[in-house]
Amino acid sequence: MDELVLSCPCHFGLESVLAGEIKRAGKPILLVSDGRVSFTGGLRDIAWANIHLRTAERVQIILKEGKVYSFEDLFQLVSSIPFEDFIGKSDAFPVKGYALKSQLHSVPDCQAIIKKAIVSRLQDHYHLNWFEETGPVHQIQFSILKDKATIMLDTTGAGLHKRGYRKNANEAPIKETLAAGIIDIAKVKPYTVLYDPFCGSGTFLIEAAAKALHIAPGFNRRFACEQWGLFSDGLFAEERKNAIAQIKRDAPFKAYGFDISEECLELSRDNAKKAGVLPRIRFQQQDIKDFTAPEGPATVICNPPYGERMLEIKEAERLYREMGRVFERTQGVNYYIISPHEEFERLFGRQADKRRKLYNGMIKCQLYMYFK
Ligand SMILES: C[S@@+](CC[C@H](N)C(=O)[O-])C[C@H]1O[C@@H](n2cnc3c(N)ncnc32)[C@H](O)[C@@H]1O
Repeated sequence: MDELVLSCPCHFGLESVLAGEIKRAGKPILLVSDGRVSFTGGLRDIAWANIHLRTAERVQIILKEGKVYSFEDLFQLVSSIPFEDFIGKSDAFPVKGYALKSQLHSVPDCQAIIKKAIVSRLQDHYHLNWFEETGPVHQIQFSILKDKATIMLDTTGAGLHKRGYRKNANEAPIKETLAAGIIDIAKVKPYTVLYDPFCGSGTFLIEAAAKALHIAPGFNRRFACEQWGLFSDGLFAEERKNAIAQIKRDAPFKAYGFDISEECLELSRDNAKKAGVLPRIRFQQQDIKDFTAPEGPATVICNPPYGERMLEIKEAERLYREMGRVFERTQGVNYYIISPHEEFERLFGRQADKRRKLYNGMIKCQLYMYFK
């Protein structure tokens, strides 16, 4: 099984960042599409991708793609997939997915047809009438978009943003995968000095420290496919061992996290400790109005508060004006600010040198970059 098509969904706007991560590891990219990057690989690459990729949401195997205009087409497409290569006779195989802009638009009906086709295929192979589905979960995912069906097998289980360090989160934490993408765009290096003046639960600082020290995001958690019979004993353990060997504790990286809330700072410290990067980060209570721009080369990354209610929006706007005052244009200090506020630049008082559209969940944001 060494020529599988592997596919990783990612945040909209981070496709090129994820493709870069995969390319840098020497894996051949097949396709970069909206919110997804596909590449070819074998079982070891599945372990590698789950353990190492910072901006992927999950790692899926593409089992089959094809045009479907009727339930019969869908049934035929799915029953031609050799599920017996992946799914044992007592394994569970739930099905979920979506259908958009297609003749087949009822998701529950598509789900039922796909399940029926898999059962029928496995019945022929295992000569069983009934599947208990008490074994390891093999989540089948489907998408039907403009009549093109893609049938996938998820290898990850709980999403890859769950690194294992952030049991604790404040009210509006940024997702680890999105934070990692912004850190990549901001070109954080092993020698970077990083500041987050609105650090909340510490995500930017922890993700940046992990990247700088080459700590693989998934080395400390488990993945759904490890329960399957498919992987040789020790393959994941070997990949984890390789990941641990790559850690560079001598990187000079350091970071400073500020927040107005002492409770958030406690959370951040706790999370940084769990991630093994606490010695690299200093946390201190500070209101943004007291922020002073660093003197030497440094990078500032943050997602300042943004509310939904009028009062919260007014307060956020006041903070953006304050940021414009304290984020001085000092030589060598670069600022990266993510916000959904359409008027951010006007309130901040300067036009960004560059902007990039990113989605924080369903919320359309811009990453405002000041680096000149
Ligand atoms: C959107 S959250 C940041 C989330 C963070 N990136 C994370 O991953 O958890 C905004 C943070 O700004 C903090 N904050 C609000 N007003 C502030 C102020 N005037 N000065 C400094 N921090 C403030 C809040 O306590 C909150 O933790």
